[in-house]
Amino acid sequence: MVMGALERLDPPRVLGDLTLLAALGEGGMATVYLAGVGSGPLARMCAVKLLRANLPDHDYRTRFLDEARLVVRLHHNNIVDVRAAGEIDGQLYIAMEAIEGRDLADVWDRCAEVGRAFPVSLAVYVIREVLRGLHYAHTFPGLGLVHRDVSPSNMLIDWAGAVRLADFGLATSSLKASLTLPGVVFGKVGYMSPEQRATNPWTDVRMSTPCRSSCGSCSPAGRCARPRA
Ligand SMILES: Nc1ncnc2c1ncn2[C@@H]1O[C@H](COP(=O)(O)OP(=O)(O)O)[C@@H](O)[C@H]1O
Ligand SMILES: [Mg+2]
Repeated sequence: MVMGALERLDPPRVLGDLTLLAALGEGGMATVYLAGVGSGPLARMCAVKLLRANLPDHDYRTRFLDEARLVVRLHHNNIVDVRAAGEIDGQLYIAMEAIEGRDLADVWDRCAEVGRAFPVSLAVYVIREVLRGLHYAHTFPGLGLVHRDVSPSNMLIDWAGAVRLADFGLATSSLKASLTLPGVVFGKVGYMSPEQRATNPWTDVRMSTPCRSSCGSCSPAGRCARPRA
């Protein structure tokens, strides 16, 4: 998020004690907004993820609820911190810390735009930070969690350089109500590990995707081709 560059909602949308101020980003099933929470001197900013209306089936709702149930438990320096989740007036939401910075997809696209190589040292740094968050999540007792969508748009880098992994919407976990059907593969094809493509369900994203997400397609000559899907 670049504060000055955000397009304000006019008028802001009010949802319980949340006031949605501007859209921060959009993914497959949700839109994330910058929001104010509370009022007066105690008012503060947060990011609020809302399940989009008009999605084709009810599974999205189940998946969003599953994501909420998971992420409220995870607290780590390399994972976007979730403060609350629930439903207000029929609208499912996840409220989390607002990251002032960019997602890695934006950084990567900007490098391509100006014809600069994505710096290898930065890629190594991002991979290391993401792996710290992933290790924490994947070894969290009792969750049996695998993220399954480790891709540039889900890695947020703030202006101070801290890296945080977001978006557990496609994660598998023993806590989840939505089950993956045999033969159905979740995630972005361009960032799947070879093991996952070969439908070995467990070894999937543990190593390969963070590496591919951060530097897989950047050549030393400065051509950055980010897989889109
Ligand atoms: N906490 C946050 N602070 C700032 N921007 C965010 C935050 N969470 C998500 N975003 C932005 O919103 C986009 C979509 O969020 P995400 O959780 O990935 O939704 P989806 O499940 O629809 O992919 C991200 O790619 C990122 O650019
Ligand atoms: Mg996403």
